[in-house]
Amino acid sequence: MVRFVSYGLGPIGLLIASVALTRHGYELVGAIDISPSIVGRDVGQVLGLNKLMGIKVESNAETVLKNVKPDVVFHATGSYLDKVYSQISLSIVHRADVISTCETLAYPYYRYPELAAKLDKEAKEHGVSVMGLGINPGFLMDLLPSLLTAPCVKISKIEVTRSLDASNRRKSFQKKIGLGLSQEEFKKRLLSGDITCHVGFSESILLMASIIGVKLQDVTETTEPLLAKKEISIGDVQIKESHVRGIVGQGVGYLDGLDFIRLKLIAAVGEQDYEEVKIYGEPNLTWRCNTGTPGDIATAAIVVNSVQRVAEAKPGLLTVKDILPIACPVVSVKL
Ligand SMILES: NC(=O)c1ccc[n+]([C@@H]2O[C@H](COP(=O)([O-])OP(=O)(O)OC[C@H]3O[C@@H](n4cnc5c(N)ncnc54)[C@H](OP(=O)(O)O)[C@@H]3O)[C@@H](O)[C@H]2O)c1
Repeated sequence: MVRFVSYGLGPIGLLIASVALTRHGYELVGAIDISPSIVGRDVGQVLGLNKLMGIKVESNAETVLKNVKPDVVFHATGSYLDKVYSQISLSIVHRADVISTCETLAYPYYRYPELAAKLDKEAKEHGVSVMGLGINPGFLMDLLPSLLTAPCVKISKIEVTRSLDASNRRKSFQKKIGLGLSQEEFKKRLLSGDITCHVGFSESILLMASIIGVKLQDVTETTEPLLAKKEISIGDVQIKESHVRGIVGQGVGYLDGLDFIRLKLIAAVGEQDYEEVKIYGEPNLTWRCNTGTPGDIATAAIVVNSVQRVAEAKPGLLTVKDILPIACPVVSVKL
């Protein structure tokens, strides 16, 4: 039995818990969140189940972790490791493996080398493993293109494009890409950190480089708003003409002065849903998903699908490079 605690019950944390609860052998033993709208409520209600689970959402993480001693903590509270470090460290101290959707934890050695070293030491001391994972970073723009280079004799460039229609995404995603803001407000909020847009271009590039085994000379990131040509209304968000309908972000990893890895993310209302990976080399390869991967549920699935791999891995701070390939366990082909 895998006894898990959900740490962070926003849309992603809820999806992770929901996916885990569909799996045989998973037991939810605790729930941590600070949002006043859910603290004190039964998790069954918060998950939208038609039953009470007898577990309340609590804001005191220490009490929950001490009382229930989980095998694994599913962590989904924030994107930046410096902001969530203490939450992860506390889980480690209580001897739980931690799988987190924190984007910068997918390859923490770039932005936070000191915190990465601390987490690695703490995890080894307590005999547990810690990993940052999700659809992106964690799969689409790093692990997947790395694997696609396997049948190549040589490679000279890797291009990954992910395009998604932001009208189908969760509210917190729409907020973080600044949907509906004026161009000036978008720039101001991005600069102040009030909105983050996509976090993880550099992490994906460096994770991919670490899997391929190449040392890049430089990594750059840019994000620009995409503006509505006419007024658009999606749900309760009104986007005025010339206001932000989404973003286009790019990350580039340089080798020998050339753009060896180029990542592009388009996330905007009205865009097509697809992903494409192009490997230039011998041979040239193109992989394309014409429907796009639904990022929220895919993040939840990849987190839950990694539990066994993380449990089997050596203790310490891990990236997807350090575990056996993650796959969806199949018990029946009847969906
Ligand atoms: N790697 C990937 O592919 C991937 C994919 C999807 C999401 N993500 C990331 O995963 C994270 C979760 O996503 P989301 O959309 O669910 O975010 P969200 O809507 O911001 O939800 C986060 C939840 O955690 C709570 N929280 C914040 N700080 C906390 C703390 N110190 N202790 C306990 N709970 C705390 C929040 O409460 P308040 O609302 O009161 O702050 C909220 O309920 C985000 O950082 C997102 O960017 C990564």
